[in-house]
Amino acid sequence: MTALEAVAERSAAGFDEALARDVAAGLTSRPKQLPAKYLYDALGSQLFEAICELPWYPITRGERALLTRERDAILARLDDPATLIELGGGNGEKLAILAGGLAERDRAATVHLIDISETALARARHTVAGHPSVAVREHRATYAEGLRMAVAELDPDRSAMVLFLGSNIGNLARDEADRFLAEIAAALRTGDSLLLGTDLVKPEADLVLAYDDPLGVTAAFNRNLLVRLNRELDADFDLAQFAHRVVWNGRESRMESHLVSQAEQTVCIPAAGCCVRFAEGESIWTESSYKYRPGAVVELAACAGFACRAQWIEPDAEFALSLFDVP
Ligand code: AVJ
Repeated sequence: MTALEAVAERSAAGFDEALARDVAAGLTSRPKQLPAKYLYDALGSQLFEAICELPWYPITRGERALLTRERDAILARLDDPATLIELGGGNGEKLAILAGGLAERDRAATVHLIDISETALARARHTVAGHPSVAVREHRATYAEGLRMAVAELDPDRSAMVLFLGSNIGNLARDEADRFLAEIAAALRTGDSLLLGTDLVKPEADLVLAYDDPLGVTAAFNRNLLVRLNRELDADFDLAQFAHRVVWNGRESRMESHLVSQAEQTVCIPAAGCCVRFAEGESIWTESSYKYRPGAVVELAACAGFACRAQWIEPDAEFALSLFDVP
């Protein structure tokens, strides 16, 4: 039986088939790697929320400051009633800033929440529930699937704004980001818009502190991926044998997060139909967090067909919020 046949057989027993397939593929490739989206199970989503509160992680604070400061300029770009589509919005806190501004002006809105995490959707639903003039549509899906579902429900006579915030785009490699922005542009119509949050290149020491914090919360967030594989795929990862490591790759302009094997060992993942050998020091690459220069953000979106309407920069966090039109 091949690994894939084993996965198919197991899935009848209630395993997440996509997870099992991605784990089998990722851990048998070189370098070993796993998709970052799997970091967000219930505990992972809560750990990510804790990361956002860390003094060393500037993204959330920087973006919150920009959204608060530029709220009116952003709201002016929305139709009345407004339609918002948020990709990977997490706890809904950022959306709530905009919803608050709409409520103050007695404006109604429909928001489409797209997230793969049930925990995140529940948190966002709760946050936005405080704004009764906002109607919520939930799509538990990946970005591309969720976008398709949301766009299918759009009112043809009303423009929409896609929110892609929190530097979520940073998880995508450059060619993936290119392709995904083109996909968003193709799904949208003239008059629609995109609000994009991107973390900016900053000194290496600051980046290392942001992704390997002194409290160990980010390490727990990363290592929890193995806890998830043990629980959901019956794997036998020994947590004590994997360490959180991050490196700044300046050439690629990205932080790389890894789980490094502390010894030579073999790990079995029955529901993924494989056993995997690790050399001492060998890692599983679990996440990339690309950092941009302000001009590169504009260029990236321009290549996808977007026109830059405004770009705001928060100097302390070194974070950018860019507003684009679909021409
Ligand atoms: C939610 C993908 C933007 O890359 O900064 C935080 C996730 N990983 N700390 C990021 C994350 C480690 C975060 N994104």
